[in-house]
Order: sequence, then structure tokens, then C-alpha cells
Amino acid sequence: MLRAVLLASALTLPLYAQDGGQLFTLYCSACHGADGKGATGGQFPPLAGSDWVMGDAARAVKIVLHGLHGEVEVDGRKFNLEMPPQGSVLPDDQIAAILTYARTSWGNKADPVTAEFVKATREATADRKAPWTANEILKLHPLPKAKPPIENLISQVYEGEWQSLPDFSQLKASNVEEEHDGKISIKKAGHDELFGMVWEGDLTAPEAGEYLFRVDADDGARILIDGKKIAEVDGTGPMDGGRAKEGSINLSAGTHKIRVEYFEYKGNEGIAVAWRPAAVKGWKALSDTSLKGGRDPILLGPQNGRAVIYRNFISNTTPRAIGIGFPNGVNLAYSADNLTAELVWKGNFMDASRHWTDRGQGDQDPAGEEVTKLSGSPALPKGSRFKGYKLDPAGNPTFSVQIGNQYVLDEWKPGTFQTLPALVRKISVRGGSAPVEILLGDKQAAKQSDDQQWELVPGLTIHTEGLYPEIRDGKTYIKVPPGASVPITYCWK
Ligand code: HEC
Repeated sequence: MLRAVLLASALTLPLYAQDGGQLFTLYCSACHGADGKGATGGQFPPLAGSDWVMGDAARAVKIVLHGLHGEVEVDGRKFNLEMPPQGSVLPDDQIAAILTYARTSWGNKADPVTAEFVKATREATADRKAPWTANEILKLHPLPKAKPPIENLISQVYEGEWQSLPDFSQLKASNVEEEHDGKISIKKAGHDELFGMVWEGDLTAPEAGEYLFRVDADDGARILIDGKKIAEVDGTGPMDGGRAKEGSINLSAGTHKIRVEYFEYKGNEGIAVAWRPAAVKGWKALSDTSLKGGRDPILLGPQNGRAVIYRNFISNTTPRAIGIGFPNGVNLAYSADNLTAELVWKGNFMDASRHWTDRGQGDQDPAGEEVTKLSGSPALPKGSRFKGYKLDPAGNPTFSVQIGNQYVLDEWKPGTFQTLPALVRKISVRGGSAPVEILLGDKQAAKQSDDQQWELVPGLTIHTEGLYPEIRDGKTYIKVPPGASVPITYCWK
């Protein structure tokens, strides 16, 4: 009996690992990186070393089935992006193989996931339509307690009046404490002015390489690694990002001594310390206060010839906007409220740093040029419902809208028009008997510029095949009969 079980697992494990690797490359690596560290230098969250992947497998299965959106912290770094659901594309056994691979690769260690488990999880969450938020998932499947960012951390409090960093080695601490949460904090200092603090502990570099450290303080602070000064903010002043300092050091893999010194003169007080591998974007906080400012632009963009999706608040469109960056340098934002593409632009896609490095609020501007607003009102009749989107293997979306017994499928792909980069849209209507009228633009009555070419808004033309746009009340529509597929090419002229 025991032998049979051992034999069975010995046979299935390597098989899973093989298939899982290939499937991972196909379905996950565009965003999470072939090495699991997160694509585009870690702008996407890592699966390597991620607690989300290990432990209770239901957490990762549900994320793969239904997707994840909103703010999420992975291995000390914050992300605020959108993972599209994969449940309709991937059958149970493939999800099991992929997650088994992710749970046993790049140093990850966790039990394999079976197809039966994925099936049961899928059935138990059949009602789930929207992507999860991190909070929802964590309520159901909490993460193991995270390792403290600084281990064996000790804090010492000093009393005195300084307007620049003193030589703490000449001073006697009035209080020494172990800080089990491993975070630099002045909350328990017992003072709010005329004091200093020193923290010492162990910091583990996961691998050898260059690491950056950043410190900001009200009033002064410095960071030392293995006794070497890395960055210092001296004198008195506010902690608003303007005085923050950065430094770097090459570290071997393993544990290093970190020492942080701080003083507060009068008025407001605070300290923020963070670090990151030089090659990876996104600071990891070492303090209970996050850094302000110091944002690198994090340019999201397509990779490996595949379109990239970004769901967040995008300026100049509605709250439920879906951004798509295509590999030919054209981008669009689709509004799930108005059921159409509302913005198109060229060049860079999105700068996601606002949402990554702190709790950025507000809308994100497209990062590129020639941002063109096509329309800003509902494109389909009242009662139409957004049903979601599917991505083809190249990451190109088809948005789907239901109107009674009819479906409008709105597909967008990168293309060219007379050698210029363009967006190729295909609108199809399925079911029903009446044609569906779709708003293309409400900024002006489209002006015909050539046989099948129209200026939809100043600077942007559309080229239609088979059907002509219709103009009414200064707006441009297209009427698509059931069963038809109408291609429309968008191009800047
Ligand atoms: C189109 C890009 C994309 C694809 C494809 C994708 N993911 Fe994700 N994934 C993300 C993003 C973005 C997040 C973070 C979402 C957020 O910010 O809320 C994420 C989060 C996760 C998380 C939780 C956080 C973490 O880093 O551990 C897991 C687990 C995960 N994805 C697994 C997978 C697996 C397995 C696949 C392949 C089946 C996959 N993802 C495919 C973009 C993607």
C-alpha cells in the first residue's frame, strides 16, 4: 500500500514539473518572468519567494481562476495592478501543473497541487465573477506570518539636544529594547522632541549583488551597512522627500549588519528607511513609515511582443477603465462603464510608479504622446451589460457586451495602416435580428477624407471596410448587423 503511493507520486511529480514549466512559460511568464521574479525588472510581482504561492494552495488556485486586482504586497513590495482571470482558458489539470511547478521552482518549497483540488476549488467558487482583491483572499487564506524585515532588531533611545547627528558611541542610551516586528519605528521612543535613536539588527540579502538604500527623516538620520555609511540626511528639516538620500553597496548573499541612527530636534518627527536590489524596481520598507517621493517612473509596457493590460484609474476616462499597451507602440483605454474605447495614445503606455511605491491615489496619466479622446458617453443602448474580456495568446483583448439576446464582441489588435502604426478594431454582433448601433466618437461629426477614410477626431482617422459610419447630432456611429464583423482601422495622420 505504502509502496504503491510512493511509486505513484514518484511517477507523477516529474511529469507535472515538466508540463508545468512549459505551461508556465505560455500563460504566466509574460507577467511574472521566466525566472519567477516578475517581468520587466520586477515591475510585476514575483512568484519566486512569494508567500502567496506557497502554503495553502487554495489561495493561488483562486487567483489563477478569477484574477486579482487592487493593492497587494508581495515579499515586502507593494503592487497595484490587475491580473486577468485565467480560469476560462486553463483546465483544472493545467492549473494544477502550473502551480505545482511554481510551488517547487526558484527555491519555492510547497506540496504539489492536484487537478482534483483545482476542480473542487473551481466548483466551490463557481459564483465568483469578479477578480479577487488581496483583502478578500487573505480573509479566506491568510498568509503565514511574514519574516521581520530586520532580524534581531534592537532599538536604543538617547536624550539630548542636537541639531545635527551626534556621535552616539560617546553617549549612553536611556532605554534599550528588542523590536520583534523588525521595523524601524519611533512610536515607542517615549519622546517627541530632543531625542535620538539607534537601531541595530541583521538584514538578509537574498542573493549577491548591488543594493540601494534610501532614508528620509525629520530631522536627521544615517544608514550604515556592515559599519559603512551608505546614506545620510543631516541637519534639521522636514520629511517630505525633498531631503531624502540614497546610497548603494555590493552585498554577498546572506546576513549583514544594519545600523540606523536618528535624531529629532523640535517639531514634527519621523523616519523612513527602505531598500531594494538595484536591479529590481519598488522599495521594500524597513520602517513602519513609507518613503514619500523618490519615485522612479515605472514604465509599464508590452514585452516579448505581447500586449500588456493595466486596470486602474486612468485619467480622462471612467473609473472602470482597462488600459492595453500594444507592442507596436499604440495604446488604448477601454471604459467598462461606457462600453467602448475612449482614449488612444502613442508611445509609452503607463507609468505605474504612483500605485507601486506608496499608497498612490488619484488617476494615472497615460505615459505616451498624442493622447486622443474619442468619446465620453455611453456607446451602446441603455441596459447593455459589460461581460468582461478575453485575451488571445498575444494578449490582445476582445471586450464583450450583452444587449438582451445579442452580444457585441469588440476586438482590438495592433496593426499598420499605410505603414503607420495603427489599431485594428473588429466589431461583431452575434444573435438577435436588429442591427446594433455603436457610438464611435462624440467629439465631432466625422469628416470624410478619402473613399473609406474619415477624420473621427482632429488628428486621428478611421478606415472602414464594407460599412460607412453614420453621422447624427455631431456624433459618429456605426451600425453593425447581426452575424457581421466590421473591421475599423484607427491611425494618427
Ligand atoms: C497579464 C499579466 C499576468 C498573467 C498572464 C498572470 N499574472 Fe499573476 N499576477 C499579475 C499581476 C499584475 C498580479 C498582481 C495583481 C494586483 O496588483 O492586485 C498577479 C498576482 C499573482 C499572484 C499573487 C501575488 C504573487 O506575486 O504571488 C499569483 C500567485 C499569481 N499572480 C500567479 C499567476 C499564475 C500561476 C499565472 C499563470 C497561470 C499568472 N499569475 C498569470 C499578472 C499576471
